[in-house]
Amino acid sequence: MNILVLGGGGREHSLVWAIRQNPKTDRLICAPGNAGIAMIAETASLNIEDPDAVTDFAIRHSIDFVVIGPEAPLVAGVADALRNAGILCFGPSAAAARLEGSKSFMKEIASACGAPTAAHARFESADAAKDHIRAQGAPIVVKADGLAAGKGVIVAATVAEALEAVDHIFQGAFGAAGSSILVEEFMRGEEASFFVLTDGRDSLPIGTARDHKRAHDGDAGPNTGGMGAYSPAPILDEATAARALEEIVKPTVEEMARRGTPYQGVLYAGLMIENGTPRLVEYNARFGDPECQVLMMRLGGQALDLMIACAEGRLTGARVNWADDHAITVVMASRGYPGAYGKGSVIRGLDALPRDSFHMVFHAGTTAVDGRVTATGGRVLNVTARGDSLAGARDRAYAMVDRVDWPEGHYRTDIGAREF
Ligand code: AMP
Ligand code: GLY
Repeated sequence: MNILVLGGGGREHSLVWAIRQNPKTDRLICAPGNAGIAMIAETASLNIEDPDAVTDFAIRHSIDFVVIGPEAPLVAGVADALRNAGILCFGPSAAAARLEGSKSFMKEIASACGAPTAAHARFESADAAKDHIRAQGAPIVVKADGLAAGKGVIVAATVAEALEAVDHIFQGAFGAAGSSILVEEFMRGEEASFFVLTDGRDSLPIGTARDHKRAHDGDAGPNTGGMGAYSPAPILDEATAARALEEIVKPTVEEMARRGTPYQGVLYAGLMIENGTPRLVEYNARFGDPECQVLMMRLGGQALDLMIACAEGRLTGARVNWADDHAITVVMASRGYPGAYGKGSVIRGLDALPRDSFHMVFHAGTTAVDGRVTATGGRVLNVTARGDSLAGARDRAYAMVDRVDWPEGHYRTDIGAREF
């Protein structure tokens, strides 16, 4: 099969790595890719948010299967265009990706299907939102309604902070995403990510993970795209995952199908778990980054078969071959991220690191310059390892981190620490 992967982050490197291991794979192209992806696949420059450009590219290169990594092409309708052209594609339609692209749409679906989530109210004016916040009190959560690259959420500890967030959003801090806002009940508990493949009818859980959103050790500092992750997430044990599937994911999949906009792809449910009861924080219409890296490390080549079965509507009877293993990824970021950071520093020592089914450094923001790997993004490397225990995987990952020679880099030293 000729396969095209869209995206160029650590998530896509791990997808390409897993797909490469499957004997079904013939030609493998990733657009735009990065320096690490270029070591194991062809890369191509392509505007991946342009549905026609992607479809033309796929036809010209005789692509049999397209895997869409990030949310922006989904929301732009790339999956729709590919399917209209008869090209098999992993990723939801634009209408279904609204589960991520519009927080008020997610709430509408949750309420229609009875999936438990935080109580909320939606506002298009600051004054009404502020009155509501004063009446509710803190802690309280304020969100820009649209896609804001994971940054449009303010968990306010005080009413003053929440009021400030309202002004911030309406003053355009998140662009068009902030033309309306949601004010939500603050949910207590522990967070975990639940990944389920769905073909629009059947749902197949493929793993759990836990992200580390804050920039610094001890969950201090600003929110980031994610500084590390591990899988499985012990808090999402078998019984809790079964409840999340029955009470949240399946009703959502049924509601989307009932509306004539079936969801096909991976549905990533961000859950808040309190005393074994899961509630929905948010949906994403794609794999998490860096959660995908730990999932792919555990799934390996079978990930391709599962994604194809999902895209072909054949999830009935599909199974995941689980190993009783653990994976962890440590994100190495440019110093300063998520704020301003320097670009172009050289990373040394990567060639000497092991590369096998227990060890892998996935690249995110890297570019090859004169044969050297340079840092060109905020999140730059995902140092990933697998083991029989989380502690074993963690030790392997940090042993690799220690051997990366990159003085301009920054990483958290406590990924997974809450489990020890
Ligand atoms: P989101 O972008 O919706 O995932 O929100 C970012 C983060 O804000 C989540 O991962 C949670 O940590 C937190 N959060 C969002 N909504 C709530 C809520 N209703 N209660 C508590 N925490 C929340
Ligand atoms: N790591 C969080 C996300 O991908 O949304």
